Amino acid sequence: MNVLIIASGGREHALAWKLRQGADVDTVYCAPGNPNMTGIEPVAIEEMNALADFAIRHDVRLTVVGPEAPLCDGIVDVFREKSLPIFGPTKEAAQLEGSKTFAKEFMVRHAIPTAAYRKCLSADDARDCVREFGPPVVVKADGLAAGKGVTVAQTIEEADQAVDECLSGRFGEAGQIVVVEECLVGEEASILAFTDGKTIIPLASSQDHKRIGEGDTGPNTGGMGAYSPAPVVTHELWNTIQSDVLERFRKGCNRDGLDYRGVIYAGIMVTPNGPKVLEFNVRFGDPETQAVLMRLESDLAQAMIATVEGRLDSVTLDWSPEPAVCVVMASGGYPGKYEKGHVITGLSEAETKGAVVFHAGTARKNNDVVTAGGRVLGVTAKGRDLQQALNRVYEAVDCIDWKDAYHRRDIAHRALARM
Ligand code: AMP
Ligand code: GLY
Repeated sequence: MNVLIIASGGREHALAWKLRQGADVDTVYCAPGNPNMTGIEPVAIEEMNALADFAIRHDVRLTVVGPEAPLCDGIVDVFREKSLPIFGPTKEAAQLEGSKTFAKEFMVRHAIPTAAYRKCLSADDARDCVREFGPPVVVKADGLAAGKGVTVAQTIEEADQAVDECLSGRFGEAGQIVVVEECLVGEEASILAFTDGKTIIPLASSQDHKRIGEGDTGPNTGGMGAYSPAPVVTHELWNTIQSDVLERFRKGCNRDGLDYRGVIYAGIMVTPNGPKVLEFNVRFGDPETQAVLMRLESDLAQAMIATVEGRLDSVTLDWSPEPAVCVVMASGGYPGKYEKGHVITGLSEAETKGAVVFHAGTARKNNDVVTAGGRVLGVTAKGRDLQQALNRVYEAVDCIDWKDAYHRRDIAHRALARM
């Protein structure tokens, strides 16, 4: 069986790594792919119809989409039209990530716990809302803004500025509607689940580290590391999330006629009043996926095909009890300006330390592996306990170097503090 993965970041490399272990998997194609990802065949195509034609020509039995943009653009609809099996929600259902108001209205309609909010269509309206909620308050651009559309404002001035930024056109169409939200306080966790509409099966819990600096300080990034499981999700909380978030999500999709056969990612804030959904993503998390998939013992390809074919009730997902940690190594300066093209050393040595090195932003130059993005590598390892996983992962990280390489030394600090 041939598999096609769309996009080529660290999350996609982890998906490729796990899918390749599938009993029936022959070739894993990755579009556009990265020649440093061992075991994948890069495919230099981006356009949706051309990808579907590629899938037909190469007998692809499963296509998996990494990022949200192609899902929101309707790649699932294009593939299904041609009877090609693809893992992900339709364009209509992808609005759960593509539009904050769509997601909020969905949550309210189906009694999924979330922060109080107002949809605002003008600056005056949004400024009034900001004052009604009072600081701290959260201001969000409605549409996809590459992870930059959310401001947790500590003051009215900061919130006003965020409103102006949204409406100034900085986020294009995405910012023309503004969501003003109650600010929730607590610890965050990421819960992913597979659903085919009839069944919903959670994956192992995880937590990511969005800020650039140690102690979760400084600007937001795409994610500087993650670990699984997240001990903030206690047994009781897990049960509440299953019933009040995941099951209501599944039933809500059915009631609203949304065709959802893929993975749903619920970003959860654990508040004193129980878990509340901060956001839905209609795809795997990055870098949560790197840590979560390292613990998956079941055949991922089989589980995904069952999801696409509506047979998820026949699947059980088995997890290693061993925790996993992913540390992201980034280019110095990220998430601001950074240089590219620096030669990376120590990759093979790192792999001898019991870690897997997932490539996110790398390229090949002559015979060297060089940096080619902000987030460059996701070094990931498992251990009999969290401390051993951390020792392994940082031992591997310490083998790797390039000019101005940066990583955080405190991944999983919240889990350690609970021990
Ligand atoms: P979102 O893209 O909606 O998940 O927002 C990105 C990040 O902003 C979340 O992971 C939270 O850290 C933070 N955030 C979003 N909404 C809220 C909220 N209502 N209260 C507090 N923090 C929030
Ligand atoms: N790690 C957060 C995300 O993938 O959106």
